[in-house]
Amino acid sequence: MIRTRELTKDFVVSRTRTVHAVRGISLDVEPGELVAVLGPNGAGKTTTLRMLTTLIPPTSGTAEVAGYDVVAHPDRVRAAIGYVGQGNAAGASQRVRDELLTQGEVYGLDRRTARRRADELLDALDLTEQADRKVESLSGGQRRRLDVAVGLVHSPSLLFLDEPSTGLDPHNRANLWEHILRMRTASPEPMTIVLTTHYLDEADTFAERVLVVDHGEVIADDTADALKAELAGDLVTFRVDPDRAATLAAIADRAPGTRSVRTAADVVEVRTADGPGATPGLLRAADAAGVEVMRVDVTRPTLDDVFLALTGRSLRETADGSGPADTAAVRPTPKEVLA
Ligand SMILES: Nc1ncnc2c1ncn2[C@@H]1O[C@H](COP(=O)(O)OP(=O)(O)OP(=O)(O)O)[C@@H](O)[C@H]1O
Ligand SMILES: [Mg+2]
Repeated sequence: MIRTRELTKDFVVSRTRTVHAVRGISLDVEPGELVAVLGPNGAGKTTTLRMLTTLIPPTSGTAEVAGYDVVAHPDRVRAAIGYVGQGNAAGASQRVRDELLTQGEVYGLDRRTARRRADELLDALDLTEQADRKVESLSGGQRRRLDVAVGLVHSPSLLFLDEPSTGLDPHNRANLWEHILRMRTASPEPMTIVLTTHYLDEADTFAERVLVVDHGEVIADDTADALKAELAGDLVTFRVDPDRAATLAAIADRAPGTRSVRTAADVVEVRTADGPGATPGLLRAADAAGVEVMRVDVTRPTLDDVFLALTGRSLRETADGSGPADTAAVRPTPKEVLA
């Protein structure tokens, strides 16, 4: 469905400054995959999506989307894909159903087909009650669902969503996801979805495959579970007498499977491949060395631990949901894309 080779985008900002937004991404996405692209602000997520959706040309490298080269056949690519850009897209003073009908026209659907499709989408995304309301009167969650509906008017088998849930409260986020997944299951052909997100839990729960992007490069690509097991490992936290923390840390450091050990006052944190498996042995060794363990907790890693293991930085700290100022002006809307 998607095949890129060394896809690269440089933005020449001034004579002395070039931003290397995307640095040689090679990627294959099979039909029916649900891929989440995770990365901090400025990682190159939107730029990658904009190249794949033909909005901007690559500086170098190639990309085939739905079987067509994005540079040679942009119109074929556009006809085959749906794109929901970052930020709200629908025209504010239109009514909800009209917004969908207009998009249908853009894609050359005849009036009857456009109407049937609009009704299907309103139903699938739970917007039937809002059909005659003005877009500007919708709640954030309803509006984002409308954006998704707009991206799906022409029944594309490949949908790109750029931060579909940013700015929604947890309830609305869950709700949007439920709709996206329901639609995907209901679709007669396999539907491929590529989305970007700042929300680690979302990528973790819903995506079948997670691409971690940082500084314009894919730094990890696997299922969330595999990434967590391979890159982060479980965290076993011991609470001990502060005087004995160093002894326990030394024991843990020698134990098989240990990846790293950190001590702070009365806490010893052990990163290990298999936390539940390693803990009994660590407790026995602590006991033998006369270290009294007051408490032990085993926590499974999160995708943030994965990002931390890969980059030494926490994604949580950088993921404030607000992009760098200079990207705001270039954010497209589906209307711009499709009109
Ligand atoms: N038109 C442009 N001109 C100059 N620089 C740009 C342009 N578009 C993007 N950039 C820069 O390219 C880099 C990647 O930006 P991009 O929007 O792809 O990041 P992102 O991963 O989508 O971030 P966010 O999470 O904030 O949406 C950033 O440094 C950004 O400032
Ligand atoms: Mg972006």
